[in-house]
Amino acid sequence: MSEALKREAAARAVAEIASGMKVGLGTGSTARHFVELLGERVAQGLDVVGVPTSEATAQQARQCGIPLSDLDQLDRLDVTVDGADEIDAHLNLIKGGGGALLREKIVAASSDAMIVIADSSKIVETLGRFPLPVEVNRFGLGATRRSVAMIMERHKAQGELKLRTTADGIPFVTDGGHLILDAFFGRISQPEALSRELLDIPGVVQHGLFLKMCRKAYVATPNGVETLLT
Ligand code: A5P
Repeated sequence: MSEALKREAAARAVAEIASGMKVGLGTGSTARHFVELLGERVAQGLDVVGVPTSEATAQQARQCGIPLSDLDQLDRLDVTVDGADEIDAHLNLIKGGGGALLREKIVAASSDAMIVIADSSKIVETLGRFPLPVEVNRFGLGATRRSVAMIMERHKAQGELKLRTTADGIPFVTDGGHLILDAFFGRISQPEALSRELLDIPGVVQHGLFLKMCRKAYVATPNGVETLLT
């Protein structure tokens, strides 16, 4: 899908931001449009403070002139605007394609609302076509990997579990210094149970299932932006 569509969805979310708001800034190519458009409004006098969900977003937001803070200084945020890799009809999400899922989840959970912006290619009937990112501690990687693989078997996963690597073939390292296992399920029929089981593994730091966290999504289609609500 085109950058123009992502930008249209981002523009709808930017229109909801008012002066005085504390805003979580998502990560990824769609969130980039949001940060850029928000920066334009800040330049016109909008008074907001942003909390970035990754080092990449922090860098972009600084370049755009958006004042930044963090969750040590701020208690609750008004809203977080972020992209997603998959969105189902209940607005449950898979996130973490860009590797920022841990900070994204911490920031979204500290926000009164989460708005997702995406193009319509992200809409699915059932989550799981996109490999589920599972952020894991480097220590005990083998043991954690075997435990995740057992859970995948229990949930009848249709594909592999892969350690995420960079284009150079070295392990991808998150902003928190962790690794990512990408778990291909094909179809996740029991997301709540899967979430609990993964979080029960000691080496799992977090996973990319965002369940019941998002209430509104702006989804750009070639015929315009649709608003999805739960
Ligand atoms: C980053 O870790 C992700 O959660 C992104 O929000 C997600 O991958 C969507 O990215 P795009 O907007 O680039 O598709």
